[in-house]
Amino acid sequence: MTEASPVTVAVTGAAGQIGYALLFRIASGAMLGPDTRVRLRLLEVPSAVRAAEGTALELSDCAFALLDSVDVTDSPATAFDGAEVALLVGARPRGAGMERAELLEANAGIFGPQGRAINDNAADGVRVLVVGNPANTNALIAAASAPDVPRERFTAMTRLDHNRAVAQLAAKLGCAVTDVDGVTIWGNHSASQYPDLTNATAGGQPVPSLVGQDWIESEFIPRVARRGAEIIDVRGASSAASAASAAIDHVRDWVRGTPDRWTSAGVASDGSYGVPEGLVSSFPVRSVDGRWEVVQGLPVPEFSRERIDASVAELAAERDAVRELGLLG
Ligand code: NAD
Ligand code: LMR
Repeated sequence: MTEASPVTVAVTGAAGQIGYALLFRIASGAMLGPDTRVRLRLLEVPSAVRAAEGTALELSDCAFALLDSVDVTDSPATAFDGAEVALLVGARPRGAGMERAELLEANAGIFGPQGRAINDNAADGVRVLVVGNPANTNALIAAASAPDVPRERFTAMTRLDHNRAVAQLAAKLGCAVTDVDGVTIWGNHSASQYPDLTNATAGGQPVPSLVGQDWIESEFIPRVARRGAEIIDVRGASSAASAASAAIDHVRDWVRGTPDRWTSAGVASDGSYGVPEGLVSSFPVRSVDGRWEVVQGLPVPEFSRERIDASVAELAAERDAVRELGLLG
C-alpha cells in the first residue's frame, strides 16, 4: 500500500451496530495509521442504504484529515471496486426457530456473491476480514467464490476472543494487558473455541503455574468462550464497539505487522497442528511482511489436543453442511 494515494476500504453492513463503531475509527487513522488517507465504500442492503447515508453525513461532519471520500451503495461490484481492504460485517442473524443449516445457507447467499464481487473487482492485494457470523465458514464460502484471490487473503475474526482472553487473564493476575504474552485462540469463533494458556506468560512468568489448571478449566475457558452470549445477556444486544475494536486490531496488525507478540486470527489452514487443510480456523499467528504466518512448534498437550480437535470438528461439520448445499463451488 502506498501512503501517497488513498487506500480503498470497503465495509459491508455499514448501517449496523458494528459499522457505526468501526467507520469513525477507520476514518480517524486507527486502522491504517496516521499517514494513510482512506477512501470508504459502504455497502448495505437497499432498505438500509439511507441509514448508511446518514452515517456518511456524520463522517463528513467529523472533518477527518485522513478521510478522502465516502460512497454508499447497495452494489457489491461498486463497493469492492479497487478495494484493498474489505471488512465483511453484514450478515444474516439467526432468526427464531432457524436451523443451523438454514443460517449457513442464508449467509452463503450473502458471502458467495460478495466473494465473487471481490474476485472480479477488488485490488490484486486485497485483504478480507470476515466479521459476520458464522465468521469462519462465511470466510470459507467467500474464498471459494473467489478463485483468483489467494486463500490466505480471506480471514475470519477471532481477535475479539483473543482480546477477551488477554483481558480476563490480566484481571485475574492484577497485571497490565501489556504484560500478557503467548495467548492463543484455536478453532471456531463459537462456544467450541479453545482459549489456550499453555504457552502464556505474564511479566515473563509461565501463566499455568500462576493461575492453576482448575481456574483455567472451570472459569477462564467458559468465560472467554461464552463472553459473546454474556454481552448479549447483560447489554441486550451483541458486542459492537469491542468487535469493531478487534477488527481494527486485526487489520492494523496484518498490514503493519505484529509488534513483539503473537495474536490469534482465523486463517486458511495449511495443515498445521493437524487442522485439515483449507478450513478457516483460528491459530496463533504473526504478521510478517504483510502476511499472516502460523506460529510453529508450540507444545500441544493432551488437554489442548482434545479441545482443538472438538472445535475443528465443528468447523469441518459446517464445511460439510455448506458443501452438501452445493455452496462451495
Ligand atoms: P446489525 O444487525 O446491527 O448490522 C448488520 C448490518 O448488516 C445491517 O445493517 C444489515 O442491513 C446489513 N446487511 C445484511 N445483509 C447484508 C448484505 N448482503 N450486504 C450488506 N449489508 C448487509 O449487526 P452487528 O451487531 O453490526 O453485527 C454484524 C455481524 O457481526 C453479526 O453477524 C454478528 O453476529 C457478528 N459479530 C461477529 C463477531 C466476531 O467476533 N467475529 C463479534 C460480534 C458480532
Ligand atoms: C460475539 O462474540 O460477541 C458475537 O459473535 C456474539 C454473537 O452471537 O453475535
